[in-house]
This record gives sequence, C-alpha cells and structure tokens, in this order.
Amino acid sequence: MEYQLIDGKATATAIKQQIAEEVKNIVANGGKQPHLAAVLVGHDGGSETYVKNKVLSCEQCGFKSTLFRYEENTTEEELLACVDRLNKDEDVDGFIIQLPLPKHIDEQKIIMAIDYRKDVDGFHPINVGRMAIGLPCFISATPLGILTLLQHYHIETSGKKCVVLGRSNIVGKPMAQLMMQKQFGDSTVTVCHSHSATLKEECREADIIIAAIGRPDFVTADMVKKGAVVIDVGTTRVPDATRKSGFRLSGDVKFDEVAPLCSYITPVPGGVGPMTICSLMKNTLAAGKKEYYK
Ligand code: GUN
Repeated sequence: MEYQLIDGKATATAIKQQIAEEVKNIVANGGKQPHLAAVLVGHDGGSETYVKNKVLSCEQCGFKSTLFRYEENTTEEELLACVDRLNKDEDVDGFIIQLPLPKHIDEQKIIMAIDYRKDVDGFHPINVGRMAIGLPCFISATPLGILTLLQHYHIETSGKKCVVLGRSNIVGKPMAQLMMQKQFGDSTVTVCHSHSATLKEECREADIIIAAIGRPDFVTADMVKKGAVVIDVGTTRVPDATRKSGFRLSGDVKFDEVAPLCSYITPVPGGVGPMTICSLMKNTLAAGKKEYYK
C-alpha cells in the first residue's frame, strides 16, 4: 500500500505565512505587533536549537521576539524574578520558559509563577484545567500542532481508536485529553506507557498511534495495523559520525518498516517538530489579540 507522508514543514510554513498576513493587517490598522519572549537557562543543545527556531519563526510571522539567557547555575529566585518582570511587562504578550530546567530549580514552581494569560506554552494549571473541560485557553504546542496536522490532511479521527504512547505533561496527557474531546479528536483513546502490560496489543488495534515516549525505533511493524495513521513525536539525538553535527534526530517509530503499513505517517525530522513551533506562533498571535483572556 502506498502511504502518504505528512509534511509538517510545508504545513507549518503555510500557516506561518497566514499569520504573517494577519499581523501585517493588524499593524497596518494601528494594532500592536505581537511580542513573544523566551527564557533559556543553560546550554542544552536541544533547547538551544528549539529556542533559535522559535526566534526565527517570530521573524517569519512578523512578531517581536526577545530572548533572555541565564547560566546553568542561576538560582530559582533569579528565575522567579525574571518571570515576575515578564508578567508585568506590558509590551510582552506571551512568554515561554524553555524546559527542561536545571535540576536545582523546581520546574512546577516556575510554571505556577507565570501569569496564565501570558502562558503561551499552555503549561500553567489554569490552562491545563481549562483545556481539560473544553474552555478557551492556550493549548500545549505539540498536541495542538498534531491536531492541526490531522485537520490539514483531512484525517478522520471521530469514532476511531487512538493509542497515545507516553504520559508526559507536555505531550502525552494533553494529547490524550484532546483526542478524546468531542470538539477535537472525538476518538476512543487509550494511553500506554512504560508499565503498560498490553502496549503492543493496544497498538495493533489502533487506527491512530501517537508516539511520544522518546525511545528511538520503539514502534515496530508488528505493532501497527494495516492502514493506520502514525504520528511520531520522538526527537532523540543519537550519535552519527557521518553528520557534521555528530548526531541525528531519531523518532520513536522504526520508519522504514512501519511506513509501508500506514495510510499516513509523519517523518522525523520535518513532521511534528515544525508544527510545534507553528502552534506556539498561533498561541502568541491569540495572546496579542487577547483572544482568550482580557
Ligand atoms: N521543552 C520541550 N518542549 C517544550 C515546549 O513546548 N515548551 C517549552 N517551554 N519547553 C519545551
């Protein structure tokens, strides 16, 4: 069977162009240019790349962006003071604290300190709770990007069996919530994780598999039903001496053997990754327009 590749890069580019058009109109009519601030602590390679791409995407969308850098040994107090300043800064519409944070900083404490009206990552408990009961809010960027891809490719999700692999606060949990909800996925959702005894069996019955466990090549051909839709959220860096960078990104899906079974599948890179950043841009535009909160 011929599978269709889901092109996240092209989809994200198209959506960012639409955002840029809208921003141009807003500014032409005397409105405010949306402003996203990002806070990066330390020098984790993956985080550096993500933040660089977020700043670049802001330019493409016509947003203002500001990057705040802190060293690895920054204290929790310093970071809380930074959050407080950004909460109060009237020019900043939304901001993100790039995760993970160094071990000596309580991530949840930092997230709780963010004004939920500027929480464009959708990590604050108010946004998480509102999302869970279907109220307008900032939705976590990776799940929102995946929903957008499914819509963009007219993939039917209503009434389908969806297996979410992984239960993280950033991807697995919100993804399962959204796929279950009537106004989004409207699917029958099963969440599997490292201790699920029947993980392979659940996957084999799934119409849609969303893999977000961060283990390279975890999803193999024997776990995938013919005609399934497979969304690969994995982006693990694995050493690769043939690359200039010394590594390549590996997804959670063993692409070469799984793809021939699929109706649709996302590649890594170029699948979910670009859509995550695109969703952050959508959320920032919504923050600028005060779409959810005054
Ligand atoms: N680390 C991995 N994904 C994300 C994300 O979507 N937002 C932030 N702030 N940190 C992350």
